Amino acid sequence: MFITLEGPDGSGKTLQIHLLEEFLTAEGYKVFCGREPGDTFIGEQIRQVLMDHQNKNMHPRTETLLFCAARAQLVQEVLKPHLERGDIVLLDRYADSTMAYQGYGHQFDLDLIRSLLHFATGGLRPDLTFLLDVDPQTGLERRQKGGGEWNRMDAYVLQYHQRVRQGYLEMAQADPQRWKIVDASRQPDVVQSDLREILLSFLSNLS
Ligand code: TYD
Repeated sequence: MFITLEGPDGSGKTLQIHLLEEFLTAEGYKVFCGREPGDTFIGEQIRQVLMDHQNKNMHPRTETLLFCAARAQLVQEVLKPHLERGDIVLLDRYADSTMAYQGYGHQFDLDLIRSLLHFATGGLRPDLTFLLDVDPQTGLERRQKGGGEWNRMDAYVLQYHQRVRQGYLEMAQADPQRWKIVDASRQPDVVQSDLREILLSFLSNLS
């Protein structure tokens, strides 16, 4: 079972995913919880290049390929082995982030990005994806006030982040079977209880 959390910066994914990990582990599931880009030796090095403020002149095409490269490594080295063992994989961002940030955000040809992602992931798709939806202004303010680290992507203009959010909503609405939209502007415990409820009903439908 492969579950991803997606959403604009500052949507609180990181806190929520760790709470979900705790919850699923307590329920007796074997869980691997990771984040993108990163979680392999090679992926963490690519992450540093992507996030470094000094790399201000990185072209969006370079950026896209680097995210895909880190992901290709993660799929082969980590995700596939866990999934083959029957673990639950919980991932903070995956291919849909590239669709949202590079495809919709930078306005690249979406079909082209889709093909690139297919190549990078070998076609591995999540079974369930949560969209933690929050408007970009609120998300970025949360981040600056002391949430996560402020990265190179956060410095893109607000319109960019608005396109990212619209992209997410469009993808989620096009495939409601896989995507579940959760309003992340609410208190973290309320968001978490929605996530758990959806997840439990998803898991019980499988068995
Ligand atoms: P991170 O610090 O992990 O942010 P967050 O807590 O919001 O997930 O940084 C990841 C940044 O990289 C975030 O701004 C989203 C961006 N990103 C892309 O642009 N494309 C991608 O494919 C991925 C995985 C992330």
